[in-house]
Amino acid sequence: MKTKSVFSSKYALITGATSGIGKSIAIELAKENCNLVIASRNFDSMKALKDMLEDKYNVSVDCITIDLSVAKSSKIIFDFCKSNNIQISILVNNSGFALATKNEFTQLDKLERMIILQTVTVTDLCSQFISSMKKNKFGYILNVSSITAITPAASTLTYSAVKKYILTYSRLLHAEVYKDGVKVCCLLPGATDTSFDKNSNLPVPKKLKRYYVSPDYVAIKAISALKRGATTVTPGFQAKFLYFIGVIFPSGLIYRLHKFFWVNKRDSYLK
Ligand SMILES: NC(=O)c1ccc[n+]([C@@H]2O[C@H](COP(=O)([O-])OP(=O)(O)OC[C@H]3O[C@@H](n4cnc5c(N)ncnc54)[C@H](OP(=O)(O)O)[C@@H]3O)[C@@H](O)[C@H]2O)c1
Repeated sequence: MKTKSVFSSKYALITGATSGIGKSIAIELAKENCNLVIASRNFDSMKALKDMLEDKYNVSVDCITIDLSVAKSSKIIFDFCKSNNIQISILVNNSGFALATKNEFTQLDKLERMIILQTVTVTDLCSQFISSMKKNKFGYILNVSSITAITPAASTLTYSAVKKYILTYSRLLHAEVYKDGVKVCCLLPGATDTSFDKNSNLPVPKKLKRYYVSPDYVAIKAISALKRGATTVTPGFQAKFLYFIGVIFPSGLIYRLHKFFWVNKRDSYLK
């Protein structure tokens, strides 16, 4: 007989569940009988996911149409949950996009929105929902960073920096709240086969695609790590290898290698 999941009948909030990794996480949690609140900009995609999950897994799914790259937008989600008596026990901060380095110094509005989405909103959502998790001595937070937080990518600049923020913040938060029964895990995916590159208008190194892992694989590994209380999770060989490089070499050397291989020779790597 299948054992009951720790997430069964609880509520999870997932940002950016309309595609890619967030959608796969939503499906994984629904399979464990977890109810969902999903929040992002595209209502039609959220509605399609809601209908599918409610029909197939008999869970309840609420949708909030919101642009989380606007400061204080997270308060709207918190107020929605409060007024509908929804107690969030699992928080998945997944929404994200990148800005290609070539656009870094010209698309300032987009740059600012990218920073807000992946620093201010992530932090606000954790802060808002953590009090009730601590009170109940039960809570799970999965913050989606990137392996570029450890070893910077050829095609991005500030994106790697904001993902580093998410990693540092998650590790510190983990240390702060684990004694209160709240588990914080940071997901560091490597290249994953989603619409991310297209949505972010990101040039990709030609040979990278052969190392792509599927978003379903990333979601399964992430949920499993979250449940067992891991601090970080790096799904797949590519992410594990880059994490290993980042751990064994001093950061000064990592940035020198980044400058030599990625920045100075960028045009030969990117399509
Ligand atoms: N794919 C990779 O290779 C890779 C590698 C490392 C890390 N990651 C990280 O994984 C996470 C998920 O990315 P993905 O690969 O699944 O890409 P994706 O398919 O493009 O999904 C991104 C999700 O973020 C949401 N989103 C984007 N901007 C938003 C905004 N302003 N407000 C609210 N939601 C927003 C999108 O929903 P709407 O469009 O409906 O708003 C979408 O559901 C991101 O944080 C990304 O940085 C991805």
